[in-house]
Amino acid sequence: MRLLVAPDYTALSEAAAELVLNALHAKPNLTLGLPTGETPIGMYNALVRRYRAEHLDFSQVRTFNLDEYLGVGLAHPNSYHSYMRERFFDHVNIPMVNQHIPDGSPGIDAAVECEKYESAIRDNGGIDLLIAGIGANGHIAFNEPGSPLDSRTRAVDLSPETIANAGRSFHDKSAVPRRAITMGVASILEARRILLLASGAHKADAVRRALDGPVAESAPASALQLHPRVIVLVDEAARGA
Ligand code: GLP
Repeated sequence: MRLLVAPDYTALSEAAAELVLNALHAKPNLTLGLPTGETPIGMYNALVRRYRAEHLDFSQVRTFNLDEYLGVGLAHPNSYHSYMRERFFDHVNIPMVNQHIPDGSPGIDAAVECEKYESAIRDNGGIDLLIAGIGANGHIAFNEPGSPLDSRTRAVDLSPETIANAGRSFHDKSAVPRRAITMGVASILEARRILLLASGAHKADAVRRALDGPVAESAPASALQLHPRVIVLVDEAARGA
């Protein structure tokens, strides 16, 4: 794994956008794996800003998001569908038909949806560059500690810590989801390149375990050590002492 340390969150966001745009330049019909959460917001802002300023073309780009809450409608303000529209998709020219996010709507047959999602990634020829964040507990996408290293896209229970974090953005606390659909650890490792982003001192321990700890199901992001082409881009706070 290659570790890049940016001085702060702004520099991290710019560097992440630069890596994405370099990949786009090399392959205009790039397929991206995309994250949500607070960490990538600066990267999406930088991408939108540069898309406008540099008249970039995303029309051949295809995207697969890493995860989505289960039991939350697509139009719900806290769904990852809404997040992606607001932060990115509404501002660049990626055709809607090229945008893929698991559907966690109430009543959905999650097993069927997960199978469809895996097939869509496969039929698309896989993911060129997958960008991921990391949970303070070491989760990647919604693969919580204990997730099998050979796991595929599936419905999962969220940990109490993840539910508490999600609760910060849900106005109605009783509506905070307890479950999600997530790409599996093995599905993530099939991407040709991976960029892991982490910002802030509260991520330092998870980053250290991902980089230097043993590869273990108790620290799902440590599985990235098994992949030949991973960049870990952190700010100084997330790098820790
Ligand atoms: C969420 C998301 C993950 C994300 C992580 C970190 O649970 N499902 O994909 O990487 O938490 O989020 P944040 O960037 O807000 O710290």
